[in-house]
Amino acid sequence: MHSEREGSIAQTTRPEPSGGGPRASNPEQAARALVHYSYAILHMPDDVFSHAYNILDAGRRFFEQPLEVKTQRRSAADDLEGYRSFGEELDPETGLEDLSEGFAVWRRNQHSEDVRRWARSCELHGLMSNALDAYATLAEDILSALRREVAQEDGGAAAGDINIRALSYLQQNYYRPADHAGDGRANVMEPHEDGHVLTILKPTAPGLAVSPRELIEPPTPENRLGVYGPPTGYLDIDLGPREAIVIPSTPTALLTGGLVKPLWHGVRNTGSKRRQSLMFFVNPDPAFSCRPWVRNRIFAKYDIHEIIDIMSSNYGKTSISQVM
Ligand SMILES: [Fe+2]
Repeated sequence: MHSEREGSIAQTTRPEPSGGGPRASNPEQAARALVHYSYAILHMPDDVFSHAYNILDAGRRFFEQPLEVKTQRRSAADDLEGYRSFGEELDPETGLEDLSEGFAVWRRNQHSEDVRRWARSCELHGLMSNALDAYATLAEDILSALRREVAQEDGGAAAGDINIRALSYLQQNYYRPADHAGDGRANVMEPHEDGHVLTILKPTAPGLAVSPRELIEPPTPENRLGVYGPPTGYLDIDLGPREAIVIPSTPTALLTGGLVKPLWHGVRNTGSKRRQSLMFFVNPDPAFSCRPWVRNRIFAKYDIHEIIDIMSSNYGKTSISQVM
């Protein structure tokens, strides 16, 4: 995914672009910000914010438990569901461990009897599972608005909405940055892109830095992802308590004919005692076709499902096609 290796996030920052800015208070404004800035800072709808607040609150209690208690919350029914211990996710470029533990809840398991039975007494799993529909509705609203926005920019009618209900999931990461202040790691998460159609991310502490990248070499049969230009400098993102950042990746660029650039991002180690992040990762359902909304010479040929599947295995985890 990266065109070159990066040890840490460069300390340069870019000036805030002029105009309306990336802040958005509804899906339409978020879509506009994605086209113009390649990210949006969204004032979360009340229902989604309320879910996120309760999940992060329960997450603090969950992750402070002893390891042997937490490992019991790894699902035997599905190895992507539930608790992920420290160091299991790897940065695809450097191979460095992400300095976090995590907990994931997939929408495709929401009605699985096996998973429900296993998760019955887990407060965190219940709260995250109950939030999936509200998050999915928000993601659908942003993607519909984005489809309309790029159709306008493209001057034509775009293809239909995509189905994201089956394979999207919520993940919470839990960091202890202060514990790693002396180990030579400038970042608690190295710069990367997520590889989903969208990510809706809410962190509890500063440290997030972002940089959109340009595609400089189209994909080839040997390199299905293409090559992206170097970062032009990372911008530190400060979010208010009610705000989340909407992050596009390569699949978003493919859908939008390159109008939305993939957003590389990482997390600096600011030395805080703890840091949580809650992400809704949005994937299209492979059972439905997912054609690019904008058909131009470079982007029209992509199989978006294939690209997402390749990217889903880049973090040391099972790829999407293998878990279905
Ligand atoms: Fe990420």
